[in-house]
Amino acid sequence: MRKSRKNIGIIGLGFYVPKKVLTNKDLEGMVDTSDEWITTRTGIKERRIAGPTESTSTLAFNAAKDALKDAKLAPEDLDLIIVATITPDMAFPATACFLQEMLGAKNAACFDMSAACAGFIYGLVTAQKFLQSGTYKNALVIGAEKLSSVTDWQDRNTCVLFGDGAGAAVLAPVENGGILASYLGCDGSMTELLMQPAGGSRMPASRQTVDDRMHFIKMRGNEVFKLAIKIMSDAACRALKACKLGVEDIDCFIPHQANMRILDAVARKMKLPLEKIYFNVAKYGNMSSAATAVALCEAYKCGRIRGGDIVVLDAFGAGLVWGAAVIQWQK
Ligand code: UT7
Repeated sequence: MRKSRKNIGIIGLGFYVPKKVLTNKDLEGMVDTSDEWITTRTGIKERRIAGPTESTSTLAFNAAKDALKDAKLAPEDLDLIIVATITPDMAFPATACFLQEMLGAKNAACFDMSAACAGFIYGLVTAQKFLQSGTYKNALVIGAEKLSSVTDWQDRNTCVLFGDGAGAAVLAPVENGGILASYLGCDGSMTELLMQPAGGSRMPASRQTVDDRMHFIKMRGNEVFKLAIKIMSDAACRALKACKLGVEDIDCFIPHQANMRILDAVARKMKLPLEKIYFNVAKYGNMSSAATAVALCEAYKCGRIRGGDIVVLDAFGAGLVWGAAVIQWQK
């Protein structure tokens, strides 16, 4: 936890979601579920699903173009690209490398970041440090996921929750405001609560892993649910405290969009009025690292965020990892 020295802010935002909409009604025809159950237990009504020719890098590309336009920068101006994702195009090379080529951002150093739903915030804080140190001037941070590629469409416990999309932010030094403080955390003793077990070095792909459906997301939802409420409210308060602000100073709270009931409970725990929270979980479901990024971009584009506002990003996910960032909006 550390207060910022040099001011680094977000100077451009963009997002992209695939065209195909998968509704709760559609899911009723795929697994034993109902629109009523999904709506009341999660708040999700529909989610976007990438087409067969789309991958995480193409989703990221569309979001990145939008963000660069907003920042009025050319791809060549980028010194650093970080793609936060748990659904990379391939195990290697990094999805950020594919993206660099698509954008023509030939001057950028590139790497991926694996911090699940907190990936976009981990990425923002990492880029902030590179920019604060003076190593780089312009950085692109993207949360991008094609979760439909690791979703078990036969498992009603998980398949109703996830969706695909990408959100992008361009960071650069700013005169005032920007990222005021952040707080990142991890508890590696609970890795088994949420994972994609096979496909890595611990359990390489085999006929058996495919037959056992081990390449799909496995989640102990109820345990994750309870921890999410406790940890997200704690992380946001710690980040606020690090820059001597309180919950009452928040103008717009942008949490990871996993479940409306989690967000209601976090708001109650923090004593934060619901009007201060930006929600889009009903439209997109849980897009892991892309969720916070897309929500931030939507909130900005629809005028929910104005110059001088205190914006708090807050996310939690597999690892378990979590992160919160307090930003004073400077645009
Ligand atoms: O992004 C990273 C962080 N992820 C999250 O934050 C997700 C956290 N977890 C959740 O959002 C919730 O735990 C879920 C939405 C996944 C589940 O809600 P829950 O209130 O925790 O339900 P549950 O897992 O305790 O299951 C309740 C019942 C079970 O039936 P029984 O055993 O009580 O008869 C499930 O089998 O609901 C059943 N169920 C379903 N029923 C209809 C589970 N999924 C479905 C479904 N449709 N899709």
